[in-house]
Amino acid sequence: MAVTINTLREFKQKGEAFSALTSYDATFSQVVSEAGVHVILIGDSLGMVLQGHDSTLPVTMEQMVYHVSCVAKGNRGSLIMADMPFMSYGTVKSALENAAELMRAGAHMVKLEGTDWMKETITALTERAVPVCAHLGLTPQFVNKFGGYKVQGRDEKAAEMMIEHACELEAAGADVILLECVPAPLAARISQAVKAPVIGIGAGPDTDGQILVLHDMLGITTGRKPRFVKNFLAETDSVQEALQAYVKAVGERTFPAEEHTFKA
Ligand code: KIV
Repeated sequence: MAVTINTLREFKQKGEAFSALTSYDATFSQVVSEAGVHVILIGDSLGMVLQGHDSTLPVTMEQMVYHVSCVAKGNRGSLIMADMPFMSYGTVKSALENAAELMRAGAHMVKLEGTDWMKETITALTERAVPVCAHLGLTPQFVNKFGGYKVQGRDEKAAEMMIEHACELEAAGADVILLECVPAPLAARISQAVKAPVIGIGAGPDTDGQILVLHDMLGITTGRKPRFVKNFLAETDSVQEALQAYVKAVGERTFPAEEHTFKA
């Protein structure tokens, strides 16, 4: 049965964890989906993973639409979430136009990186039938503002601010919250503070769902391997088994383990 936003809400209500992975093409999307991964993200990480850039900033709408349509063809029932690339949602008008393109290409939900300044945009999108995931914490499109890829929300003031932003974005209409590289206790507080399902990457074991970049969980990370990454292919004999092991480990909350987690 196809995964919808209601499926993710039910997971949260039951206290069960759901799994998500990035994917960018039809073949991988089919095997990811057949392995039981609930959410496929066409991440703008494709700028780094597929295109070899050192950030996600060069990724264009045209490229995102192309990859979303490839993923939609291979998908076998996962919920398809598409990243809105850098500056494609700088204004409400551009957000509406660009989100419509991603939905027409096959996305079921779009993901935007940012904080309280996105409230008006999120309301405009969700009121017009576009489900939204709000990405907080380490938002890679802000790498030049952050001065690098760093864990966010480490001090109490920043933590309080992130909780406030998550609540405000949910009130504005966000259907899902994604937290990247935040200390596990903060991710747990945010997951409790909002009704929307919360997906974590480098956010500890207490979020409602987990996501990883596909290439990372298959052990083909180029460059420095982030702390939160686990190579599931190392313990299995095939890509399919590695994907199933990931879904199982997330469902049983054995991943992420302590060694994949930022404590503070
Ligand atoms: O672009 C991406 O792959 C992402 C994940 C890291 C969550 O945003």
